[in-house]
Amino acid sequence: MPKIAVVPGDGIGPEVIEQGLRVLGALAPDVELEHFDLGAERYLRDGTTMPADVMARFGSEFAGVLLGALGDPRVPSNVHAKDILLGSRFQLDLYINFRPCKLLDARYCPLKNRVEADVDFVVFRENTEGLYTGVGGQFKRGTADEIAMEQEINTRKGVERIIRAAFAWARDNGRRRVCMSDKANAMRHGHDLWQRVFKEVAAEYPDIQPSHLYVDVLCMRLVQAPQDFDVIVTNNLFGDIVTDLGAALQGGIGLAASGNLNPGKAALFEPVHGSAPDIAGKGIANPVATILTVGMLLAWLGRKNDEVRIQRAIQRCLRAGQVTRELGGSLSSREATDAVLAALD
Ligand code: NAD
Ligand code: IPM
Ligand code: MN
Repeated sequence: MPKIAVVPGDGIGPEVIEQGLRVLGALAPDVELEHFDLGAERYLRDGTTMPADVMARFGSEFAGVLLGALGDPRVPSNVHAKDILLGSRFQLDLYINFRPCKLLDARYCPLKNRVEADVDFVVFRENTEGLYTGVGGQFKRGTADEIAMEQEINTRKGVERIIRAAFAWARDNGRRRVCMSDKANAMRHGHDLWQRVFKEVAAEYPDIQPSHLYVDVLCMRLVQAPQDFDVIVTNNLFGDIVTDLGAALQGGIGLAASGNLNPGKAALFEPVHGSAPDIAGKGIANPVATILTVGMLLAWLGRKNDEVRIQRAIQRCLRAGQVTRELGGSLSSREATDAVLAALD
C-alpha cells in the first residue's frame, strides 16, 4: 500500500489540500496518508522548520509528498519555506520540476481566438541549482558600501540531466519539439554550458526537433504562438517565471499543477500557486490545481488512468462553468470539488 506524506502548509495550502484529499480518497482509498505539521504556524510556535528525520523519511519511506503551499506574511524571511520546500528539492535531489501547461477549456484562455490544442506544453524546470542555492553572501550589510551576491550555479551534471529528462519525456510522449531557453547572450559562462550540453544531448534524439530561444523572446512567443511549443527546458529561475506565464495561458494559477521529481527515488507534488494570503481563510481558493496535482501523484503511483479521469472531470466542470470566483464562477473550494467528484466517470 503506497504511503503519501501530506504537508498542507500555509494560507490556502490547507484549504486546497483538504479538497485534493477528498478526490484522492475517492479514487485511491487504499493510499495511506501521514500528515506533517510543518509551515509558518509550527515555526512561529516552536522554531521548527524542517526536522532532519522528517526529511530522511520523505526520501525513504514515502512514495511521494503532497504539499499545499508555504509562505506567510508573519515570516517575512520565508525561512521555513526555504527549509521545507527548497530543502526538499535540494536534499532529496528532485532535479525535475515538471510543470504541464494545458488549456482544458478555451474560454479561460486570456488570449484571443484560441482553441484548447493551442496551449499544450510542458516545462522542465531545473530544480536543484541555478540561482536558488543560496550560494552568495553579503558584505558591509546596511552600509553605503554594501555588497550582495547571489551566485548562479550551473553544473555539467545538473544541466545535462534536466535536458536529458526533457528529451526523454518528449520521445516517450510522442512530442516532436524541445525548446531550450537561457540568456546566453548576457550570461556568458553558465548559459554557454547550457548551449553546449543542449546541442550534445539533442544529437542523441534525431527524431526530436531542438530549438533555442532567449528567455525574453520565449515569453513573447508563448503569448503570440503557444502552439509552437511541446517541451520547454530551462533553468530554475526562468522556469519559475515562465510557468506562472504558462499558468495564465492555461486559465490561471488556480489550474496549474507540478511535480518535483527524481525518477525511481523521490517525489514531491504541489500546485504551482502559493499560499495566496489575500484570499486565505475564505474558502474560495480554486482547488483544481491541487486536484490536478493529485492526478499527477496518482500517475506517479502507476495509476495513469486515474489521472486521466481527474482531467476529464475537471474539463467537464470548466465547460459547465462550475468554477470558483476568480474564473468567473460562484463556487466555494468545497463546492468546486463536489462538482469534480460528481463529474468523475
Ligand atoms: P500566490 O500564487 O500565492 O498568489 C498570486 C495571486 O494568485 C493572488 O492574487 C492569489 O489570490 C491568486 N491565487 C493563487 N492561488 C490561487 C487559487 N488556488 N485560487 C484562486 N486564486 C489563487 O503568489 P504570491 O502572492 O506571490 O505569494 C504568496 C506567498 O506564497 C509568498 O509567501 C510566496 O513566497 C509563496 N509561494 C509559495 C509557493 C509554494 O509553496 N510552492 C509558490 C508560490 C508562492
Ligand atoms: C514555486 C514557488 C517557489 C519557487 C518559491 C515559493 C520559492 O514560486 O514553486 O514556483 O520559486 O520555486
Ligand atoms: Mn513560482
